[in-house]
Amino acid sequence: MQISFAETRPTGDYALVLPVAGKDRASLASLGAAQQAVGAALDRQRFEGEGSSVSEQFADEGGAVRRVLIVGLGAGTAAADAAEKLGGTAAARLLTSGEKKAVIDVSSLGYDADTAARVGLAAALRSWRYDRYRTKLKDSQKPTLDEVVIVGGGQGADQRYRSRWAPVVEGVSLTRELVTEPANIIYPETFVERVRASLDGSGVEIQVLDRAEMAKLGMGALLGVAQGSAREARLMILKWNGGTNGQPTAFVGKGVTFDTGGISIKPAAGMEAMKWDMGGAGAVAGALKALALRKAKTNIVGICGLVENMPGGNAQRPGDVVTTLSGQTVEVINTDAEGRLVLSDAVCYVQRNFKPSTVIDLATLTGAILISLGHEWAGLFSNNEELASALLKAGSESGDKLWRMPLAESFDRLIDSPIADMKNVGPREGGSITAAQFIQRFIENGVKWAHVDMAGKAWADKPSSTYEKGATGFGVRLLDQYVADVLESH
Ligand code: BES
Ligand code: MN
Ligand code: ZN
Repeated sequence: MQISFAETRPTGDYALVLPVAGKDRASLASLGAAQQAVGAALDRQRFEGEGSSVSEQFADEGGAVRRVLIVGLGAGTAAADAAEKLGGTAAARLLTSGEKKAVIDVSSLGYDADTAARVGLAAALRSWRYDRYRTKLKDSQKPTLDEVVIVGGGQGADQRYRSRWAPVVEGVSLTRELVTEPANIIYPETFVERVRASLDGSGVEIQVLDRAEMAKLGMGALLGVAQGSAREARLMILKWNGGTNGQPTAFVGKGVTFDTGGISIKPAAGMEAMKWDMGGAGAVAGALKALALRKAKTNIVGICGLVENMPGGNAQRPGDVVTTLSGQTVEVINTDAEGRLVLSDAVCYVQRNFKPSTVIDLATLTGAILISLGHEWAGLFSNNEELASALLKAGSESGDKLWRMPLAESFDRLIDSPIADMKNVGPREGGSITAAQFIQRFIENGVKWAHVDMAGKAWADKPSSTYEKGATGFGVRLLDQYVADVLESH
């Protein structure tokens, strides 16, 4: 999607989009002679300008017919939020409409540069789709819209879009692609290749460990998960050095390219969803891409722990004891609690090799977080108040919303094992918390750590203003916003 900005409406053929905040129809004045008819049609449609509501009309412009979309923003909606609703709703409505170009006129809203730029951000995000395997799309189902012009956003909107939001669109798109691809296409090795190709020329340095290298280091937890699969595991390390801060911040992602559950196999119904069990690793890769493209002034190391969890003749069994990279031992009670095993070695590796001050891990870790928070919020766990509040703030600013969950000694005791240092599952109750406690056992003293359980967020069954049903790209905007707020703000 080509996004551009202009001071006045262009001439020629396009669909015109006008925002209406609740009952305030000021923007319609710009329609000139057509204003009255459009306003009357809105009344007949009982259009009240509620958030994301749309009235689609055709107006006569000196003999030519122009499609006019009136998009409701709701009364009193915060500007950034309204801007994203506007761009996203317009793009969704026009994407396969036959229109090639949309002009969104925000002149009546008095937006600052960033707010106007967010109209473009949402339009670009909302138009992302992945049609690679749809060979029989009818012409009428194919996207036509390829250009969006935002008019009246004032000086600096274009510059703001290009320097801040276009990179985020690229990052989110990479994440969505990785998450959408099925597991016969994206597995550890091909995840690495796809990311490598996508980051080519971005300035991100890439290092990859294969099975032999991980075995030599002693990453028994991650490799134990991978051993039932014909696909070899990988640890992907992405380095972005854009700053002068000595200690980097680490982002660590769970990258289970398919989670059958292993020998503790999952039920058949819905198992196809487990192709997106690499959403955390996908978000880390997408975030690094966004940060590199916008030349973020900070040092970040991203780690993707990549495995496929399969049952097989060589798969690990319930009851097996594995030795992690940290030296701690784990009794694997349930092979379906594999994400924490992967993360334990990944977070240990990054702490030993990069001495980060802060570690943030993202993982589609537990079904239990869906029971707690549904599909609206991801769960946030942290050993540090400042880090937790910065992430909560970045979450609400970016739309990747987080809800704080507790950690406590009493939960930690629930994963003690009679035979090893710990077991990989606790009781059913508090399942997301004991999973977080497990990861915390691999965080070194003094390291600030946050864990984001995003099991309900990698994939959506309902569209929003910034995504269609399917892969959301959750996590990229969260991490990008955190970097902007905390690591680049001085
Ligand atoms: N990948 C799943 C978690 C998940 C479940 C993500 C549903 C998205 C939707 C994870 O590896 C898993 O299987 N967790 C188990 C843990 C249990 C065995 C303690 C779960 O949540 O059931
Ligand atoms: Mn699992
Ligand atoms: Zn999993």
